[in-house]
Amino acid sequence: MASKSLKNWQGIACVIGLDFGDSGKGRLIDDLAQNAHIVARFNGGSNAGHTVRNQFGAFALHMIPSGIFNQKATCIIGRGVAVDLESLIDDEFQQLKKVGVSWKNLIIDDQATLTMPWHKLKDGIRENYRKTKIGTVGKGIGPTYADRVERSGLRVYDLIAKDFREKLADELSFQNKFFNLKLKFENIFSQYAKYATIIKSHVATTIPVIKKAKKDGKNILFEGAQGYFLDIDSGTYPYVTSSSTGVLGIWRSFDIHPFDINQVVGITKAYLTRVGAGPMPTKINSHEKETIIEKGTEFGTTSGRVRDPGWLDLVLIKHAVAANKVNSLALTKLDILSGFKNIKICIGYKIASQVANYVSGDATSLEKCQPQYEVLPGWRQDISKARNFKDLPKNAKNYIKFIEKFTQVPVNIIGVGPEREQAIYV
Ligand code: GDP
Ligand code: IMO
Ligand code: MG
Repeated sequence: MASKSLKNWQGIACVIGLDFGDSGKGRLIDDLAQNAHIVARFNGGSNAGHTVRNQFGAFALHMIPSGIFNQKATCIIGRGVAVDLESLIDDEFQQLKKVGVSWKNLIIDDQATLTMPWHKLKDGIRENYRKTKIGTVGKGIGPTYADRVERSGLRVYDLIAKDFREKLADELSFQNKFFNLKLKFENIFSQYAKYATIIKSHVATTIPVIKKAKKDGKNILFEGAQGYFLDIDSGTYPYVTSSSTGVLGIWRSFDIHPFDINQVVGITKAYLTRVGAGPMPTKINSHEKETIIEKGTEFGTTSGRVRDPGWLDLVLIKHAVAANKVNSLALTKLDILSGFKNIKICIGYKIASQVANYVSGDATSLEKCQPQYEVLPGWRQDISKARNFKDLPKNAKNYIKFIEKFTQVPVNIIGVGPEREQAIYV
């Protein structure tokens, strides 16, 4: 059942980005995971950069579910995830090891596709060749998913099987020959044989684990990566990622039907950002741009690239809310908007001076849209210490109420700073 305060959520919950990514999913999952028996990643790969700041320190996670700091929870990497073992083992395990956080409860699905060195190379080669670049993160995401769909990707299961050496040799010789690569078999084999030894005891078929937990009434939290307008089908194609970023992604990884999810939490910043190419109708070109980048430290967690800021776009948010049946909103980084005299918020689009009735996420259609704004008065006060809705300035409350009225969904969590405790649960 949907809980009154999301702090005490129960049943099955998920966190879905409603925007172009980097909305603060990592920090929210870290907090909601305190109440979880299972935390499971269902899409994307090491293109994700989920920042967590808590009593253990500050972390940039790419593969490991952000619930790993609840040492009692089981963390799962699902079959729909592109598994980058270099990131998982050489970077993220090391981040955790330094602070004594264990990953013994991590399970990786045996059917998930591996991101291999040739995928990363091909991501770069393809991107360089494109006249109009997508601005990918360069982690091999497109080529990994392309191989999965083409039915040739090596899977986690293959890595721990006896014939891995032969399978790798076959696939590598194909990749080297047809894509003119010069990758060395022995180097890759020894690197992946080492990874296999490290992860072997963490590999399992994860769907029965999720099904049993569901049957036993445990709390299961699904962690989305990216955002709905980067979704392969619903996003601003071709400026999208290659996985299903909405609730459909949960079904693709775990056979859990969206109707079975009690709490669909849609998350967005109080403004938008986009990193990489592709349209964002509310992109800010005025003086507020630099202020937001600087105050909000809007630099990519994975790539370090500057994120373009935009005003909150309620047309897009409402579209993502409807498509995913979001029943709770989380609004992060409200603190970054403190000090603005006025705050713009997009409530409609015009195309060639005509009101647009329907807008798909597709880039060609979105590029033509002129945003129509409501201008709301800002607030001056620092809100980073607010812990109750009533502590917020009147105009900040009005900004939130405006979002709730437009989307018809309650804002149940408000981020007022990056630390775990800097959140208001309404
Ligand atoms: P994710 O990809 O959705 O997990 O988001 P990222 O971690 O890539 O980017 C979000 C950034 O905003 C991180 O640096 C967070 O520490 C930070 N952050 C999250 N919520 C808040 C908030 O409410 N206020 C502030 N000031 N920073 C936040
Ligand atoms: P999190 O989970 C923001 C963007 C890239 C590029 C496009 C395709 O941290 O929110 P890809 O490497 O996936 O082929 O790149 O998608 N992108 C993200 N932008 N946050 C992310 O993840 C992203 N993952 C991919 O910038 O525009
Ligand atoms: Mg991120």
